[in-house]
Formats: sequence, C-alpha cells, structure tokens
Amino acid sequence: MEEKAYLIVAHNSAQMLLVNKTLKDNGIETDLVPAPPESGTVCAVAVKVVERDLEKAKSMIHDSKINITGIFEDKKMRLQGLIDEKIGLSVTSEFLNILKKIEEGENLLEKEIIYILSTNREKEIETIYATADRIRRETVGDVLEIRGAIEFSNYCAKKCKYCGINSLNNGVQRYRMDENEIMEVIKDIHDIGIRTVILQSGEDQSWSTERLAKLIKRIKDKTGMRITLSVGEKSFNDYEILKKSGANNFLLKIETTNKKLFDFIHPDGDYHLRLKCSKWLKELGYINGSGNIIGIPGQTIRDIAKDIMYFKDMGINMIGIGPFIPAEGTPFEILPHGDIDLTLRTMAVTRIVCKKVYIPSTTALASLDRDAQVWALKAGANTIMLINTPLKYRSNYRIYDDKNMVDLDAAIYAANKAGLKLPSYLRN
Ligand code: 5AD
Repeated sequence: MEEKAYLIVAHNSAQMLLVNKTLKDNGIETDLVPAPPESGTVCAVAVKVVERDLEKAKSMIHDSKINITGIFEDKKMRLQGLIDEKIGLSVTSEFLNILKKIEEGENLLEKEIIYILSTNREKEIETIYATADRIRRETVGDVLEIRGAIEFSNYCAKKCKYCGINSLNNGVQRYRMDENEIMEVIKDIHDIGIRTVILQSGEDQSWSTERLAKLIKRIKDKTGMRITLSVGEKSFNDYEILKKSGANNFLLKIETTNKKLFDFIHPDGDYHLRLKCSKWLKELGYINGSGNIIGIPGQTIRDIAKDIMYFKDMGINMIGIGPFIPAEGTPFEILPHGDIDLTLRTMAVTRIVCKKVYIPSTTALASLDRDAQVWALKAGANTIMLINTPLKYRSNYRIYDDKNMVDLDAAIYAANKAGLKLPSYLRN
C-alpha cells in the first residue's frame, strides 16, 4: 500500500519553492503536485511529503521561518452516489467496478482508462460525462475562467508536421508584433477585466529571452496581470529568467507521450528534451501546462490513456486537449480531422483522473463546431481562451485551417449554455 502523504501549501510560488528546496537540501524526498481543493487556492502547486517525514519537515519549515498556508492530508477524493440501483441493468460489471474505484478515489489502471475512453454503451458514456462534470464542480467550481491570448509572432524555427506555421510552410505570411503593439492589446484585455494573459508564438529567435523578460516586466508593472507563456522549448536558464521577470504559468504540450509517434510528427524534435523542459518548468515553480492532440495519424486509444496517466504522474496543472485539424501547406494537409467525441471523452477522463486541474475548452474544438466548446464545458472543461490577436494578424496565425476566433461573446454564450457562471472580474 502507498504510504500516507501530506501536502504543504505556501502563500506563493517563491515560498513554495523555498519550502521545497529547504526540505530537499535536508534529505527529505518531495514532489510538486497540484494543491488540494480544500486549500482554497485554485491550481497552485503544493509540496508533497510522506508521513514519516512530516514532523521533520514541519520543524525545518518552522526553523527557517517560512510562512505556509497550511498542511493538508493527501486524501483520496471520494464521490458518493455514482452508482444507484437502476444503473446496474444497463452497464457491464467491469464498468461498475471502475465506478466503484472512482467513488473511492482509487487510481485507475491503464486498461480501465482505456475502457472508459472507448465504451460505446450509452448509459456508460452518459455516466462518464456526468462524473467528470461533478468532479469539475467539486474541485474547481462553477465559474468559467476566461483568459486572453495574444499570438504575437508566427515565425517558427520548428518543423512540426501538423502545424500550419511550421518553418517549411511557405504559404504563410509571417508577422511579428513589437512590444508597443503587444502593450496596446494588453490594455484592451486588462480593460475588460481579464486577469491572465497568454503570450503565444512560434519558436521565434528574434523574440529573445531578454526581450521577453522586458515585456513581462512591463506588463506586470502596468497591469499586475498573471502571465502565461506559450513560446516553446528553451533552456533551464531561459525559463528561470522568464520566471524571475514575472511569468506565472507556462504551456508546453507534450502532444503525445508515444515516443515513436512524437518523433514521427516532430522531425526536428527531441522527446526527452520535451520531457525535460516540462520538468524544469515544474521545478521552477511555474503552474505547468501540458496537453495532447487527438487524432494524429497512428495514435491509438492506449496512447491517449498513457497521455492521461502522464498528466497525472507529472502533476500537470493545465491540460489542453484538442482535436487534430489539418493545416494547408503541411505534410498532414489532406488527413481527416480528429474526432470530436473522442476529444470530449479524453477531456472527461482527464478530469476524472487528474481531478483539480485546469482544462480549457479548446479553440480547436470551437473550430470544428460552434457548440463543441459548450459540450466540453459539460464534460469537465472549465476555462476558455479568447483570441485577442489584432485582426490584421489573426488569419496568419493559422496553426490549422478555419481556426475559430473565440471572442468574449462566444465565451459568454458557451458559459450560459453549459450552465457555468461568468467570473466576477469581468467588466461588462
Ligand atoms: N491541429 C490541432 N492542434 C494543433 N496545434 C498545432 N497545430 C495543430 C493542428 N494542426 C496545437 C498544438 C500546440 C498548440 C499551440 O496548438 O497542440 O501545442
């Protein structure tokens, strides 16, 4: 049996890192995991220690005078009432066993995850979505989190076969926003009350770490907004500079945990480096984002199950799951898009397995069907990212074709239809 564990929650990421470092330097084994729901903070990172180290850890924290928010038992999340008398008639005994494990907060095995990702029984599918919806409500609540994204450069050094802005695609008009242009958009996003901005770009050498750091400081000084970066692979040192200059969150998707598949779709990629980057981000105290693409050629349900287990094991905080959509001018341009239902199912199972995480209702889903973002919000998702890239550039940030330009109206529509509340920070 796994040893009982405790989660130490600090006031902010710097304090959390200090706790982690202090314990580690004194020989205590730690892990960084999403903070427990009862700690109040949504999606912050906690330091996990096993029971036998708890007293030692407490006295060390006390001696080094670090202020912490609290220590919480690493409890299993129990869910009563998933199984009622009627359900037994329309589901298999295998499914009932899985539900029982979910009720008791037990970890699911790979084959059980595969089962709930692939069942065709209507009652089972309905139960999976309802369970994900309930876990979403009980972990991150009923408020839709809204973020604003600026896609500030579509220059990219990489050759990812699925991506429309890969460096080999000559059919894209390249653009690069400068700091002042970005600040104008930041002002708009800030004015409507949004508190987190996502800065996304291709891997653009011209937007060096120094330039990015300067931009981040300026955004922080002007607005105090939280900053999410989505700018690809960098060195530990670069990630550290960006963190110190004020970045809070980082999105770097693994895309697939199947190494063979990863190598196939990323001809100039390095699977181990991608994993390493993700670990560095976590060590540096970023709220850590990952995710995958559903429907890349050759991907199996087992691959998707392994992706979900990876998100859980890595303690990933934000998990972006989107269907593959072919992009003109790429080696994958004539392939069919990924399945909407499988994407929704993956989101639901990810919510069931990973519990207290951010799951965006992705732009890629919105691009396939206007209502797909609503379905995702009913299947475990809890955030929406608005595209705030200036009009004149938007159509050139074509990572896939017919990309939807999700705006505030679309987010409000989706929240209303899915029965989620709008955040109080929005100014109408
Ligand atoms: N289809 C779906 N998602 C894509 N992305 C890039 N290209 C595509 C595509 N053709 C996703 C990747 C990346 C994110 C920014 O966009 O998952 O991490």
